[in-house]
Amino acid sequence: MRRVYLDNGATSYPKAPGVGEAMCHFITDVGCNIGRGGYQVAYDAAALVLETREQLNTLLHGPGSRNVIFTAGATASLNLLLKGLLRPGDRVLTTTMEHNAVLRPLTQLQKTGVEVVFLPCGADGALDLEECQARLSQGAAALVMSHASNVCGTIQPIGAVGTLCRRYGVPFLVDGAQTVGMVPVDMADMHIDALAFPGHKGLLGPQGIGGLILTGALARRIEPLLAGGTGSVSQSLEMPDFLPDKLEAGTLNLPGIYGLHAALSYLEREGATLRVHARKVGLHLWARLKELEYDGFRVTGTDDLSRRTGVVSVDFLKGDNGEMAFRLEQEYGIATRCGLHCAPTAHQTIGTYPQGTVRFSTGPFTTFEDMDYVQDAVWRLLTER
Ligand SMILES: Cc1ncc(COP(=O)(O)O)c(C=O)c1O
Repeated sequence: MRRVYLDNGATSYPKAPGVGEAMCHFITDVGCNIGRGGYQVAYDAAALVLETREQLNTLLHGPGSRNVIFTAGATASLNLLLKGLLRPGDRVLTTTMEHNAVLRPLTQLQKTGVEVVFLPCGADGALDLEECQARLSQGAAALVMSHASNVCGTIQPIGAVGTLCRRYGVPFLVDGAQTVGMVPVDMADMHIDALAFPGHKGLLGPQGIGGLILTGALARRIEPLLAGGTGSVSQSLEMPDFLPDKLEAGTLNLPGIYGLHAALSYLEREGATLRVHARKVGLHLWARLKELEYDGFRVTGTDDLSRRTGVVSVDFLKGDNGEMAFRLEQEYGIATRCGLHCAPTAHQTIGTYPQGTVRFSTGPFTTFEDMDYVQDAVWRLLTER
């Protein structure tokens, strides 16, 4: 049977060429730690890690390669950021479209006395900018939000929100899980103070590696979530006060960084072309599924095509979404993800709670022919019932 992978919103597949080889090379031929060993191979590995920080800083227009912190992924970065920054009595703004990677740390913090204020979003998932401005003008310790929805693919007006945050002096923290690598992100231009991202989605790298880029001013206010060895100022029982060491205790995921380095090198060569293709193929799928809309089948998210990622979520209003996803896989070989996608309030916002949606998420290696095949499969499911 034909196989069509449409779960790139969860993790991209295939990975960039060279990722597997680079990880294998580290395990088989390098294998050492960095910042601890005084021998050539350790210095070479440290140079590659530094180069990877530089690649990320350049791609995302960050404040400097030392401000790139390696973590296990977007979830780890967001926990580090939110729990390191927010204190009892602080007020933090967020939106109703967030992933549990933001919602759950905030819920934990709420129990310690942090006030969490939810900014409203429309049924298309887009943030209400007027309400956002009104809340920012009352002051906040931070605003944290995703660049694009993992549920319906709506891209938020991050540049406009960043400008407002700057105006009101509120640190702007962005969850770039659904955009980094595939949608341009410019931290400087968008006034982003901290950007959390995974290596395994749009960057086409392996699972288990991701990062956080943050300004020096914000980093100075963060209490490290993890404390431990850094290979630097070992005589001190305190964490170093400089980046990246302040926020990177313990041995780094070096196989992951080697893989990510290979992915970033590939994106440096091919990224522009891949991003154009990913965008076109995502919109092609959206248009194909939109053609099938009727009162028993709805495509969610914005109709403003300039504000969509390659995520297209649909609701089989006259059927069971779980069953539809199962049949798509069993009968047509189409891999999707159904349910609430770790974002219950987002589904409440767009009107698909509690049934959830069937999410098709395209990637840079998705083909136009496969999207036509998906349309045909969905049409069959809708008409055979
Ligand atoms: C919007 C959003 N934020 C955060 C995450 C968490 O990313 P990770 O699982 O890589 O930590 C995801 C993953 O699905 C996501 O879609």
